[in-house]
Amino acid sequence: MGASMVLFLPQLLLLLLLLRFHLQHLPMGVSALGFNWGYISSRPLPPPIVVRLLKSNGISKVKLFDANRDVLSALRGSGIEVMIGIPNELLQNIAFSSAAADAWVSTNLTSFMGKGGANIRYVAVGNEPFLSAYGTRYQNFTYPAMKNIYESISKVGLGNEVKVTVPCNADVLLNTVPSKAQFRPDMKEPMRQIAGFLAGTNAPLLMNIYPFLSLTSDPNFPEDFAFFGGSSQTLVDGQNTYRNSLDASIDMTLTALAGVGYPNVQVVVGEIGWPTDGAPYANVTMAQKFNQGLVKHIMSKQGTPLRPGVVIEAYLFGLLDENQKSLLPGNFERHWGVFTFDGQAKYPLDLSGEGRNMELKNADNVAYLPSRWCIANSNGEESFLLRNAQFACETADCTALADGGTCSRIGMPNNASYAFNSYYQLNQQNESSCSFNGLGIITFLDPSVGDCRFLIGISKSAQEVCCNLYYLLLMVAMLIYLFISV
Ligand SMILES: *[C@@H]1O[C@H](CO)[C@@H](O)[C@H](O)[C@H]1NC(C)=O
Ligand SMILES: *[C@@H]1O[C@H](CO)[C@@H](O)[C@H](O)[C@H]1NC(C)=O
Ligand SMILES: *[C@@H]1O[C@H](CO)[C@@H](O)[C@H](O)[C@H]1NC(C)=O
Ligand SMILES: *[C@@H]1O[C@H](CO)[C@@H](O)[C@H](O)[C@H]1NC(C)=O
Ligand SMILES: *[C@@H]1O[C@H](CO)[C@@H](O)[C@H](O)[C@H]1NC(C)=O
Repeated sequence: MGASMVLFLPQLLLLLLLLRFHLQHLPMGVSALGFNWGYISSRPLPPPIVVRLLKSNGISKVKLFDANRDVLSALRGSGIEVMIGIPNELLQNIAFSSAAADAWVSTNLTSFMGKGGANIRYVAVGNEPFLSAYGTRYQNFTYPAMKNIYESISKVGLGNEVKVTVPCNADVLLNTVPSKAQFRPDMKEPMRQIAGFLAGTNAPLLMNIYPFLSLTSDPNFPEDFAFFGGSSQTLVDGQNTYRNSLDASIDMTLTALAGVGYPNVQVVVGEIGWPTDGAPYANVTMAQKFNQGLVKHIMSKQGTPLRPGVVIEAYLFGLLDENQKSLLPGNFERHWGVFTFDGQAKYPLDLSGEGRNMELKNADNVAYLPSRWCIANSNGEESFLLRNAQFACETADCTALADGGTCSRIGMPNNASYAFNSYYQLNQQNESSCSFNGLGIITFLDPSVGDCRFLIGISKSAQEVCCNLYYLLLMVAMLIYLFISV
């Protein structure tokens, strides 16, 4: 490198830094499409990497399930619109105590806002608190908690800026045609109160809508109606013709709201998406078809038969796979991500909905563990292998081995190897976690079989390699610059 190049380098770096800074602060148009960002993972992707992933893909809205400090810190100054959440466990306390509501708002909202802060615009009070499976546990607390949070937000002068809402599972509705829709009998009174509150504060109701669950739980559900292909399956309801399950669900919600006296409350889709593994129908082809159809439908600005021309707002579920989610809903539950756990796009998705041939951008600078896998000794006795695999799967994620999963057909001993490796990566490749009573072997050759990917975990240490390295380089360059100029 010549001396002139050495002189030029620091300026170039500074310019790059400024450019990068500038790009990060460009105002963005807020899209009708957001993403749910959950992090129930053994080793979540570091929030600064996720925020860069959002920005590089032009994603301008996210919905969180809590008010995680690291996540909100990473969102500071990004301009990305944020919905934060209050977990159900906190509802009772907040419902009965305005001091608890004040404390929540002060630690979890106000402290992240202000100049250069996070752009928090919504607080979701509870998450599906009226789910039938919860019985009446949260029914009496949700509305009072919403009211207390709203009052606390108003007290700090953010009443117009930050809206208070509640995400509902579609099971608050009875299953009928849209024009006859109503809330479940036990939900009529709670929803009347909540709808009145939402109407008075000009806030939307969030409804989570899952055509995937309708399709897989009801053998008579017409497959095409879950998607956005057009016309082969339609639902004729009086004057209106429904061509997809999403439009029907939104209009059901609108009718039910009208039924309790509030026809003008806006309905936003809080969660919608399609998983890629762990069950029949949960594969990349179907997920791509659903999500691309959804984006195209939203961006067409057609609206629904009851609200023609009113843009549908929706938060895709989800951004990343989460390998520690409860399996109660099914083995697919850990595979809702448009991106894998490590931020790699699973399939092409054009978020503009304009039919452009666009690939999503992957996460950059992910710090992985070394390229090492744990596999099963193929000479091991079968029942012995199985028992050890079962042990591994008690804590590690083995959902890809489930019926319909990407690894369901790899057979013995490969499926035992998959389980061993999942456990080994979960334990940060600790050598003793690949023992399995002498059946485990560490290998440097990728044991993946076709679509069945044997994963490598994200490293616990050195999570922000990119930026530390970046600033180190910059400092070195500055020092050289100073040294040369004196
Ligand atoms: C703030 O939110 C976190 C995460 O949801 C919760 O654990 C904490 O209790 C909240 N703080 C207050 C004061 O309520
Ligand atoms: C909810 O409130 C109703 C009416 O005040 C009461 O009868 C019911 O027991 C309460 N339920 C719970 C779970 O607290
Ligand atoms: C995805 O699932 C559908 C429905 O079960 C099936 O017809 C299709 O072959 C699957 N595609 C792939 C690539 O597995
Ligand atoms: C592995 O495959 C064998 C043979 O197909 C099957 O019997 C066994 O249940 C599978 N084990 C796991 C953990 O998937
Ligand atoms: C590996 O696991 C063993 C047993 O659980 C534990 O004693 C040891 O400290 C771990 N080693 C590292 C480097 O974490």
